[in-house]
Amino acid sequence: MERVIQKWDGVAGKRVLITGGTSGIGLAAATELARRGGQVTLIARTESRAARAVRTIVDGSPKPVSVDVLFGDLASQASIRRLAKYPRIEVLINNAGAIYRQRRLSPDGLELTWAVNHLATFLLTTVLLDRLKESAPARIITTSSDAHKSARIPFDDLQAEGGWAGMGFRRYGETKLANVLFTVELARQLQGTGVTANCFHPGFVASGFNRNNGPLMRVGMMLSRPFARSSRKGAQTLVWLADSQEAGAFNGGYLAGQRTADSGGLTRPLRA
Ligand SMILES: NC(=O)c1ccc[n+]([C@@H]2O[C@H](COP(=O)([O-])OP(=O)(O)OC[C@H]3O[C@@H](n4cnc5c(N)ncnc54)[C@H](OP(=O)(O)O)[C@@H]3O)[C@@H](O)[C@H]2O)c1
Repeated sequence: MERVIQKWDGVAGKRVLITGGTSGIGLAAATELARRGGQVTLIARTESRAARAVRTIVDGSPKPVSVDVLFGDLASQASIRRLAKYPRIEVLINNAGAIYRQRRLSPDGLELTWAVNHLATFLLTTVLLDRLKESAPARIITTSSDAHKSARIPFDDLQAEGGWAGMGFRRYGETKLANVLFTVELARQLQGTGVTANCFHPGFVASGFNRNNGPLMRVGMMLSRPFARSSRKGAQTLVWLADSQEAGAFNGGYLAGQRTADSGGLTRPLRA
């Protein structure tokens, strides 16, 4: 198959919308993309965390940067629908994600992991898709995880009412599998539009992840910290997918370490 490289001269001057940019991998990526000249917009749910992230991003560059905030709770579909503010968006990064030790419901009555990790990604992308196409060349990047490999989608129990195994890890893997499957189908539908869709695995990262689940999990995450990579390292593939000319060759890819990774046979990068 002929490989058509999407024409792309980096994120400088481009509108970059990122979810989960207030912490961890997303904050590290937003800082680097702003430093490279991207017009970064954080989608955040609390003012204090947004303000702290903006300070980090501004302090992370020797030159003035462009960064602003849209407030929205990705657990709420009404809130997501209000996020279509910008006429042009060249990069959409669906990075927010969480794991919950106990089964919880979103304001819409949906199981919360599914709502935040998968449905929010699906809905935000759908709401912004026409703007991305009008802004082409454009890129959609979703943070998935290798945790998808042992999962299957429970089509007969999408609300996870039938059981909550492994302190939420099984559910988490299901949502990350949904991220990969969503990317594959989105990429297929986007062929020839000048918009690409890819997802990636950041590795095991010492971020704020899994700290919302009580003292036991927090201690577990602290003990595993020496084996984890930094958020900056975890963000490298994301930054590369957003900024580099080479990444324009991928559509429908699952990447890690800035190259195609084993997705368990789910992905086959398509011509951009
Ligand atoms: N850490 C790892 O080892 C690892 C491995 C594989 C994949 N990942 C994936 O990497 C992505 C980023 O995670 P991270 O490790 O950087 O964790 P993190 O530090 O906990 O960051 C998670 C981000 O998601 C945001 N978020 C969560 N729920 C939200 C909601 N309802 N509405 C809006 N924003 C919400 C958080 O916002 P607040 O600041 O408001 O909480 C935060 O900015 C996730 O998709 C995760 O699944 C992580």
